[in-house]
Amino acid sequence: MQSTVRRVLFVCLGNICRSPAAEGVFRAAASQVGLEVHIDSAGTSDWHVGAPPYAQMQTAARQRGYDIGNLRARQFQRVDFDRFDLIIAMDADNLSDIEQVRPQGNETAVRLFLDFAPDTDLTDLPDPYYTLDFETALDLVERASQGLLAEIVLNQVVTCNK
Ligand code: 4NP
Repeated sequence: MQSTVRRVLFVCLGNICRSPAAEGVFRAAASQVGLEVHIDSAGTSDWHVGAPPYAQMQTAARQRGYDIGNLRARQFQRVDFDRFDLIIAMDADNLSDIEQVRPQGNETAVRLFLDFAPDTDLTDLPDPYYTLDFETALDLVERASQGLLAEIVLNQVVTCNK
């Protein structure tokens, strides 16, 4: 990952469950520590473009203090490789779909979200659109967000001390 991450994009399939949850949770985590970072989310599909997050995800997020109701789905675009410093995929399929449109010569980091979550063997964030387990998904999103935040902040400290 490049040392100064200022723009982070979370990507899932529909952009109505996992990545908008990640966007809302990570925005709150970054804000709590005063980290100024541009945060967005997108889906690899165009199935839900313009739609708000899935109602059950909105409700589950709201119960934890995250208001994601104003987010609207959009499709991941090739140009996002130039617009973001770090792209975070929710699962291996998302990662593969993202990599397939990487522009030649572009070196933007693309990482799996759960790589940042401590104490889990999972690599893919289970999709509550199918599992209906919104609490487990949000637990993992919160843990991965804290891990990602720590990595970004630590990188910046290391860079400052150079
Ligand atoms: P997401 O979940 O990728 O986390 O937004 C899904 C939402 C919708 C569908 C699949 C996954 N769908 O098939 O419409």
